Amino acid sequence: MNTLYLIDDLQAARKKLAFPVGLVPTMGYLHEGHISLVRRARRECASVIATIFVNPTQFGPQEDFAAYPRDLPRDLALFEQNGVDIAWLPEQNEMYPPDFQTWVNVEDVTQPLEGKMRPGHFRGVTTIVAKLFNAAQPDRAYFGQKDAQQAVVIRKMAEDLNFPIEIIICPTVRESDGLAMSSRNVYLDPAQRQAALVLYKSLKAAHEAFINGINDAEQLRLVMSDTISQEPLAKPQYVSCANPETLEELSGPVSRALISLAVVIGKTRLIDNLLIGEV
Ligand code: PAJ
Repeated sequence: MNTLYLIDDLQAARKKLAFPVGLVPTMGYLHEGHISLVRRARRECASVIATIFVNPTQFGPQEDFAAYPRDLPRDLALFEQNGVDIAWLPEQNEMYPPDFQTWVNVEDVTQPLEGKMRPGHFRGVTTIVAKLFNAAQPDRAYFGQKDAQQAVVIRKMAEDLNFPIEIIICPTVRESDGLAMSSRNVYLDPAQRQAALVLYKSLKAAHEAFINGINDAEQLRLVMSDTISQEPLAKPQYVSCANPETLEELSGPVSRALISLAVVIGKTRLIDNLLIGEV
């Protein structure tokens, strides 16, 4: 594995890579969710570039940028073990030089859900992902369903800006008890870790209700909020039953939906989602 830092070095190495080239962008502190993307890219592509960059512009002023967990030696070993050809670790001052002033902004699909709770978050995500795409010029890029809205937003950006890149969304990887893997799970103490199971429990309860014939969007949101209210450590930020493409909140009977939620436990904000209904 080649570990590179500068865009010039990446682009020189990129020229020698066999087609198709897969890109896996991450913020590091890798877990099985990230590794599942690397493995999928490895299976489907002749060459794999994986990146680690804790992107400051997608964190709000009150969020955990400074505290975001980091373990570079472990991450690089995991990339290497899973067949990454190039680990690209962009430099802060090359990604965002002092006079940086150009932003990528996707409009409608960034407005609800995470966009509403985290103003500016998606502007940071789309700007860095566009920069990673431009520098690495992959044929395919791999993202996780865990961040469902991010997946929708990146697809829309790639479509609207004509990036010649196939966007591939991989299933959410969970712990054996159902908690979706996240770098932020390390913030949870044992009681909070137990309480965090309420996210998946709520989604499963709504999914089960749906399978049993309850297909009213508001009813499905109520099933989720009722389940969350049974966990005293969990403070819900939103529960949603939305159109999986437009992310607009649904009402009345639904045949398919993205059900999602954001919950704060202690100081940790957790998100999860499920796609339900016809695929
Ligand atoms: P990060 O949170 O490090 O996640 C990197 C990729 O791993 C994202 O595509 C995310 O959806 C995926 N992922 C995270 N947890 C997962 C899980 N449990 N199962 C499957 N996939 C999972 O998302 C980001 O970084 C950043 O916003 C980034 C896209 C790198 C831009 O800075």
